[in-house]
Amino acid sequence: MIVGVPKEIKNNESRVGMTPAGVFELVKNNHTVYVQSGAGDGSGFFNKDYQQAGATILDTIGQVYAMSEMIVKVKEPIAEEYDLVQEGQIIFTYFHFASSEPLTKAMIKQKGICIAYETVEDEEGTLPLLTPMSEVAGRMAIQQGAKYLEKPAKGRGLLLGGVPGVAPGKVLVLGAGVVGIQAAKMAAGLGAHVTIMDVNMKRLRYVNDVMPPHVVTDFSNEYSIRKHIKTHDLIVGGVLLKGAKAPNLITRDMLKEMRPGTVIVDVAVDQGGCVETTKATTHEDPIYIIDDVVHYCVANMPGAVPYTSTVALTNVTLPYVLKLANLGWQSACEKDKSLQKGLNIIEGKVVYKEINEAFNWDTPVLV
Ligand SMILES: NC(=O)c1ccc[n+]([C@@H]2O[C@H](COP(=O)([O-])OP(=O)(O)OC[C@H]3O[C@@H](n4cnc5c(N)ncnc54)[C@H](O)[C@@H]3O)[C@@H](O)[C@H]2O)c1
Repeated sequence: MIVGVPKEIKNNESRVGMTPAGVFELVKNNHTVYVQSGAGDGSGFFNKDYQQAGATILDTIGQVYAMSEMIVKVKEPIAEEYDLVQEGQIIFTYFHFASSEPLTKAMIKQKGICIAYETVEDEEGTLPLLTPMSEVAGRMAIQQGAKYLEKPAKGRGLLLGGVPGVAPGKVLVLGAGVVGIQAAKMAAGLGAHVTIMDVNMKRLRYVNDVMPPHVVTDFSNEYSIRKHIKTHDLIVGGVLLKGAKAPNLITRDMLKEMRPGTVIVDVAVDQGGCVETTKATTHEDPIYIIDDVVHYCVANMPGAVPYTSTVALTNVTLPYVLKLANLGWQSACEKDKSLQKGLNIIEGKVVYKEINEAFNWDTPVLV
């Protein structure tokens, strides 16, 4: 198969859909890979790295789309890219169709085979192509939180790990999922005292089994959250209700109960956030302050560490890319039910029912 890797042109996106290691594997399997010149620059992978791995570099995004049977990228196509998609061409990327009717209509019109990273789902119901980004964001939450606890960054002026003779800081983690566990682990590694809360006892039992004794679990309810926010220095929001807005576990009135300079990192901001006062921020302007509480609510945290994010993402996408290239999309999706769940639009037909539901479209679905 001929596989194309374009440069991402969405604002502030430095990740790339394939590393030179991915190119090497595809070429080893007798596929041809075209990479747009400069596509990997933002992640620290340069044209010569791709060439050494066996790729051919093309000058323009138009050439990459025109010459490839499958496009592997990171973000959904933006308006300038819509017309580049060819009939019958496989587009393997994050799409998030339900949040954009114009994108959905454009992909229907272009008649491509749209396979969305975010809906590939394994037998346990987990989303393997979303997990690495939650891992990145969870770990980063502590790095960012520790920074904003410093006085010049408007925080309490506290070193999270403490020093001999001074107690470490306290971190409250809401949600013991992927984000929450990675955040707890990083905070514990710095020596902070960690409280992690969830409503799922299985998750709390797991955390209790694997974490050191300075990570304690607590069942998530309003009473306990109100109690903990008074004594914790950094609060990480990592709650998710599948397919719904995150619940407001911290309401506006609770900010007054926190000590001035407390930092909230609401990782769940992309689902509306689990703090009532959360509003999305950017890496250029990541924080704002309400009632002396620092809010960090960057909606694309992994974007700040494109090298790590690109490698983490492509580690999990590559096996699927190889299957698609080796078998073709029909056979690959028949053989791999996880990948089949990724099929969203096939040659102009929406086959993922949540998309039709999101736009109240009354179209028959195939899967
Ligand atoms: N901002 C970013 O850049 C970024 C990056 C990656 C992920 N995210 C977001 O982070 C959030 C968490 O993702 P995840 O992969 O960890 O999800 P996950 O499903 O692995 O974990 C969510 C956890 O929240 C728990 N939960 C549900 N209701 C709760 C409640 N009332 N109190 C406490 N816990 C509760 C669930 O039981 C689950 O364990 C999602 O909204 C995701 O989209 C944001």
